[in-house]
Amino acid sequence: MGSALPGSSASGHSAGRAVHTTAKLCSDVPSAPGETISVTFVDKDGLEHNVPAPIGKNLLEVAHDNEVDLEGACEGSLACSTCHVIVENEEYYKKLPEPCEDELDMLDLAFGLSETSRLGCQVIAARELDGIRVRIPAASRNFYVDGHKPKPH
Ligand code: FES
Repeated sequence: MGSALPGSSASGHSAGRAVHTTAKLCSDVPSAPGETISVTFVDKDGLEHNVPAPIGKNLLEVAHDNEVDLEGACEGSLACSTCHVIVENEEYYKKLPEPCEDELDMLDLAFGLSETSRLGCQVIAARELDGIRVRIPAASRNFYVDGHKPKPH
């Protein structure tokens, strides 16, 4: 009794946390292994790409997995605005978790900002987003690394 160190807990957290990518997320990631939702990207040329999005993946990853041209210069680390997407339907926009400060800061730099703009790397596929349509603006501003385009994973 009384042997617990200050700050220790009964849950057995280990100090080291594995970090696999530089990606940074503002909201919690839902998990539903194996489940997908339907997402439609409208690309810069107005072409529609209806693709399956595994629950828990962000729209930047989904775009790259399906060869949809969404830039994502910082690879999801909230340091650019090149993954800017516009949610076409306000109903879906309202279902998204609120953007965090970092996302809002980056959105301020986005070209063609709209009322329903979000960063694609921060929009996580979740059941309630099944059927969402997002438009990729005709241009993006890349303050991160000019001309750098990460390869799809
Ligand atoms: S890819 Fe840079 S903020 Fe989303």
